[in-house]
Amino acid sequence: MSNYHIKHLEEYYQVYRKSVNNPERFWEEIAEEHFLWRKKWDKVLEWDFKKPEVKWFQGAELNISENCIDRHLATRANKTAILFEPNNPDDDAEHITYKQLYHRVNQFANVLKAQGVKKGDRVCIYVPMIPELAIATLACARIGAIHSVVFAGFSATALATRINDSDCKIVITSDGSYRGAKTIDLKGIVDEALERCEGVETVLVAKRIHSNITMKVGRDKWLQPLLDVASNQCEAEVMQAEDPLFILYTSGSTGKPKGMVHTTAGYMVYTAYTFKNAFQYRENDVYWCTADIGWITGHSYIVYGPLCNGATTVMFEGVPSYPDYGRFWDIVDKHKVNQFYTAPTAIRALAKQGVEMVEKYDLSSLKVLGSVGEPINEEAWHWYNENIGKKKSPIIDSWWQTETGGIMITPIPYVTPTKPTYATLPFIGVQPCIMDEHGKELKGNQVEGRLCIKFPWPSIARTIWGNHQRYKETYFSTFENMYFTGDGALRDEVGYYRITGRVDDVIIVSGHNLGTAPIEDAINEHPAVAESAIVGFPHDVKGSALYGYVTLKDSGESRNQENLRKEINQLISDRIGPIAKLNKIQFTDGLPKTRSGKIMRRILRKIAEKDTSNLGDISTLLNPECVQDIMDNVL
Ligand code: WT7
Repeated sequence: MSNYHIKHLEEYYQVYRKSVNNPERFWEEIAEEHFLWRKKWDKVLEWDFKKPEVKWFQGAELNISENCIDRHLATRANKTAILFEPNNPDDDAEHITYKQLYHRVNQFANVLKAQGVKKGDRVCIYVPMIPELAIATLACARIGAIHSVVFAGFSATALATRINDSDCKIVITSDGSYRGAKTIDLKGIVDEALERCEGVETVLVAKRIHSNITMKVGRDKWLQPLLDVASNQCEAEVMQAEDPLFILYTSGSTGKPKGMVHTTAGYMVYTAYTFKNAFQYRENDVYWCTADIGWITGHSYIVYGPLCNGATTVMFEGVPSYPDYGRFWDIVDKHKVNQFYTAPTAIRALAKQGVEMVEKYDLSSLKVLGSVGEPINEEAWHWYNENIGKKKSPIIDSWWQTETGGIMITPIPYVTPTKPTYATLPFIGVQPCIMDEHGKELKGNQVEGRLCIKFPWPSIARTIWGNHQRYKETYFSTFENMYFTGDGALRDEVGYYRITGRVDDVIIVSGHNLGTAPIEDAINEHPAVAESAIVGFPHDVKGSALYGYVTLKDSGESRNQENLRKEINQLISDRIGPIAKLNKIQFTDGLPKTRSGKIMRRILRKIAEKDTSNLGDISTLLNPECVQDIMDNVL
C-alpha cells in the first residue's frame, strides 16, 4: 500500500495519524518506495532536541542528482525537465529535457572537478535565474560539493560575508543579468566582493548579457569553453544520508546571517513528498513557482522537489511587471501552467493593476494556486481566488521556513477545505503546537501563542554553518524540547492554523525575511548617525515596509534631512541590498529605552503603525519624555 499520493480528507487524517503514531515506520515506507538508494539505511531516525541533533536514514548512501535526473531517463528522457522562460518575451523559451539536463549537469560537474572542487568543498553560486543556476546546483550535488546559492540581488558586502562565512573557494556567476528593462552588472558586484574574500581562487563566468567585463587573469574563466570540452558523463559521488547538501543564508535578529545547513536524504524525501501532495502534481502537468532559486522556495520547489518527481518545472528569468503587468498571466497561458506558486506581495502588486491585465489571457489550465512567504491578507486571497483561480482552483497557503526545508502547514488541494488567511492543517508527519510565553503548551482549539514543532521532520536544517551553539540558542532554547519557529499562530475551532506573523526582530518585506539588526548596523555606519531602530509598518503591496528612527550625533546637524535619508538608504543598499531600503526615516532626539538600555521597539512599532491608543506603561522607561516628541513628528 502506498501513502505517496493523498486523494481524500479521510485519507489525509488516516495517513497523518500513521505518520505521527509511528514516524519511523511511515517515513521508511515513503523512502523505500520512491527513491533510488545506493544502500539502504540502518536506522530511520535518531534525535535529541536538547543537543540538538537530528539524523534521518543513517547508514544510507545515495546521490540526490541521480534521483532528480538519472532515475527518470528510462521513462522520461524526452520530457521537459526545466522550461526556461527568458526575461524578454520575444525570445524563445527553452525546453530542457531530462536527457539534456543529464548531459549538461554532468558537463558542469566535470568542469567543477577540473577546477579542483572536491566532495565537501563549498561552492558559491551567484547567478541570475538562467538555466546555469539550476544546473550548477545539481552539478555540485552530483560531485558532493556543498552549494551556497546567494540571491543575485544581494550587494557586494552581503555576498562577501556569505562567501567568507563558509570559506567558498570558487564562485560561479554571470557577466550580468536582465531584470525587466534593466541590466545588472553582476560580475562587477562579484569583483567588489572578492576584494574582501582571500580564499576565492576561481570565478566561473556564464555569458548572459554580453557586456564588456574585466576578467582577472588566473582567477576568472568563461564557463562555456570549459563546458564545451567537458565530458557529458560524470559518475555521481556516493553520499551519506547526513552529508551536507547545501548552505542557505537567512537573516536573523543579530547582525550575521545564519548559514542553514541542509543534508541529503531527509531533505530529498521530504521535498519530493510534499511537492507531490501539496501541489497534487500529475505526470503531464506544467508546474511554475515564481520564486528565485536564491531562496529556499526555489531550492525545494523549483529544483529538488519537482525534479525528484520527474516534473516539468518552469524557471522564469524576469519580473512580473515586464514588459507589462500581464506577464505572469501571459506565461501561464503560453505554457499552459497547471500549478502556480507565488508570494502574497506579488498578488497584491498585480491586483492593483486591475483585472484587465488578467482578462486578456486564458488561465483555464490552472488547477492549483499556491501562496508562500508571509501571511496572505483576506483581500489578496479573494482576488487570487476569483480572478486567477476563477473560484475553481484551490489556494494552498503554505507555511514554512528556510530552516524547515519544506512545506509544514498547508491545505492539500482538492483534499483540505480552504479558509482565507489560514494555512489550515499540518502536513503529514508535522507535529505543531502552540505555546504561551511561560513555556506551557496551549492544548485544544481556539488558542493563540507561539508556534513550535514537537517532533523532527526529515528536512529540518541540522545546524548553522560553523555555529552550532547559535543554532541551539535560536531554535531550541526558548521552549524546552521544541523547535521554536519565531512565528505567532492561532488554532481555530476546527484545528486550523493561522500564522499571525513574526514574534522576533525579523520583518518580512515583500516576502523577504529581513533582520532589523543588520539594517541598523548599516545605518549606524553613517558618520552623522548616533543610533537607529527599525520597525515594520503595514504596506498595501509589500505587506510590511520599513520605518527607521534615527538619532544624529549632532542634533543640530546642518545637512539637509532629505540628503541624509538618501545617504542612509544608499548605505543600506550597499551593505545588504535594495530590498532592505527604508520607506520612511524619522529623525529624532532620542529612542525610548528600558532601564537596562534596550530599545523598546514595541512602542516604536505602535507609533509607526499609528496605533498609539495603548502604548502600555511608559513610565518605567529610562527616557519617557522622548515618546511624545516621536509621536508628534511621526511620518
Ligand atoms: C518566514 C520564513 C519558506 C518560504 C519562504 C520564506 C513567513 C512563510 C508563510 C505563510 C504566513 C509565512 C513566516 C516564516 N511565512 N510562509 N504561508 N503564512 N507567514 O522563507 O525567508 O525563511 O521566511 O516567512 O514568518 O517564519 P523564509
